[in-house]
Amino acid sequence: MSQKPPELERLIPGETLAERVRSLGGEISRDYRGRCPHLIGVLKGAWVFMADLIRALDLPVTVDFLSIASYGGDTQSSGEVKIIKDLDAPIEGRDVLVIEDILDTGRTIQFLKELLETRKPRSVRVVALLDKASRRVAPVQADYVGFRIPDAFVVGYGLDFDQKFRELPDICVLRSAASR
Ligand code: IMP
Repeated sequence: MSQKPPELERLIPGETLAERVRSLGGEISRDYRGRCPHLIGVLKGAWVFMADLIRALDLPVTVDFLSIASYGGDTQSSGEVKIIKDLDAPIEGRDVLVIEDILDTGRTIQFLKELLETRKPRSVRVVALLDKASRRVAPVQADYVGFRIPDAFVVGYGLDFDQKFRELPDICVLRSAASR
C-alpha cells in the first residue's frame, strides 16, 4: 500500500523566526546582565534554535546538552520521559536556561525542571521557541516563549517527524502526520 506524501504548510517563515530570536536574545541579555548563564539544549529538536539564540545574546554563556526521549517515531506522546544522554558538567550554583524547541503536554519540561533542581543550580528558567498551550497536561510554563501556536504537528527549524524535516528553514505544519 503506498503512503500519502507529507503535506507541508508554512506556519512561521524563517525571516520571522530570525526576528523573534533576535528579540528574545535582547530580552534574555537584559534579564541576565552581569551574569553568565548556562544554556542547556534539549536534543535533538532545540539545537537549531539554540545555535541562533546564543548568537543573539550579548552575554558570556556556557553550553551543555542533554538528550531525552519522550516521543517515538510518530506524533503521539508516550507520556514517558527518559534521559538518553546526561549533562557533561555539574550545574550547582549556575543560572540555568533550558532551551526547548516546543512545549506540548509539558511533561518533558516538568521532568527536566524537577531533575535539574535536585542538582542545586542558582536558578532554572525555560526558553521555548514554540508553545502549544492548549495541549498542556503538566502545570508548567516557559519563562520565555518565541511563538504560541495552535494544536498542530509542526516540523522544520530543528523539529522533526520520524527524524525528517529538521533541515527546513521555516516552521511548517505537517498535514499528513498521524492524527492524535
Ligand atoms: P511534551 O513533553 O509533550 O511537552 O513534548 C515536548 C517534546 O515533544 C518536544 O521537545 C518535541 O520533541 C516533541 N514535540 C511535541 N510537539 C511536537 C511537534 O509539533 N513537532 C515536533 N515535535 C514535537
